[in-house]
Amino acid sequence: MCYYQTFIIRDTQGEAASQVTAVGHKPVSMTQIFQVDPEQPQRVPLLLAALVIKQGGLVAFPTETVYGLGADATSEAAVQRVFKAKLRPADNPLIIHVSGRPMLSRVASSVNTTAEKLISRFWPGPLTLVLGRGSEITPMVSAGLDTVAVRMPANRIALELIKQAGTPLGAPSANLSGRPSATCANHVAADLTGRIDVILDGGPTRIGIESTVLDLTSTPPMLLRPGWITLETLRETIGPVDHVPSEAESRKSPGTRHRHYSPRARVVLVENDYEGSNREICLRLLRDGVVGYVGHHDLRINDPRLVQIILPDRAEDYARAIYSAFRALDQQGAGVILVEGISGDREGAAVMERLRRAASEVITSEEQVKHR
Ligand code: TXA
Ligand code: MG
Repeated sequence: MCYYQTFIIRDTQGEAASQVTAVGHKPVSMTQIFQVDPEQPQRVPLLLAALVIKQGGLVAFPTETVYGLGADATSEAAVQRVFKAKLRPADNPLIIHVSGRPMLSRVASSVNTTAEKLISRFWPGPLTLVLGRGSEITPMVSAGLDTVAVRMPANRIALELIKQAGTPLGAPSANLSGRPSATCANHVAADLTGRIDVILDGGPTRIGIESTVLDLTSTPPMLLRPGWITLETLRETIGPVDHVPSEAESRKSPGTRHRHYSPRARVVLVENDYEGSNREICLRLLRDGVVGYVGHHDLRINDPRLVQIILPDRAEDYARAIYSAFRALDQQGAGVILVEGISGDREGAAVMERLRRAASEVITSEEQVKHR
């Protein structure tokens, strides 16, 4: 935790101008939450948060995808704190966040023409590029790999924080390792209060699932994690792109082999092509206690132990709501969450990938149940 003093001086228009002085550092014991306007971020909380970063502290901030937990990517001690606060395995590298193209030169060893093309089309936005690691970045960010994953988030609070801190931020999703990513400040607070210094509350995130991760160090480029920018869109922009085969997945993108996105409840996923009855599956599950249901049909079961969250059958609605639904159903005491899948086309591929990873059972068209 940073000790600091803040002097707030009001100018003649009544606008707050501030001078902030850091006076020391001790282990985190208290987490401060600042409300920030996502359209016109106030200067004072951002200056404070930037100072915390400069002092080696941890700041959670909103992006357009999910909340990130930021630390100075050039400081080994700060990055180590991120792994500790999240209880994140040390072999799972972090994504570096930059505020613009100039900062990228400090992060990556080289930026080829394919990268330039993608950057000019998709940044700021939910596309993470894997490039050669630049010398300023502490190797710990990349879990010892000689590459870095980097993106420029499309969120004013995030961009302003990085600019004020004057350093690229190593920032994984702001949740305890293995838990659903945080899509609002309350989710961050539930997982990380007392473990981090500051939470910048900029309201709910717009997209709701994590960025697309594309490895540009292999030929052709390889999609390591599907996201809002789809495989089809990437191929339209740069030509051939491979999709990481599942067996090789764990070697190329270390993070993907760890359990992910999981609520405490067991998740049973019914794929979109299943022709049987979700209602019957639900009735069966209700024999064992409280059941949460996330889907696009009302199951019409009159049982107080069933908690239903009904969403439109669209990738964007599922993406925005799925993590918060998981967290809400955990709080309602659900032992199992039944999820009705959506089509895995285009943006739906990213949503279904998250759901399959969270699930311990997947029910498909052949009524075959895959236990994991
Ligand atoms: O939308 C997002 O990407 C969010 C926000 C906060 O920006 N961040 C996020 O970070 O989802 P995280 O740590 O939860 O996921 C990072 C993913 C992991 O799967 C990790 O293995 C992969 O990126 N990754 C990071 N560095 C890598 C590298 N050098 N090579 C391959 N994969 C890498
Ligand atoms: Mg994560």
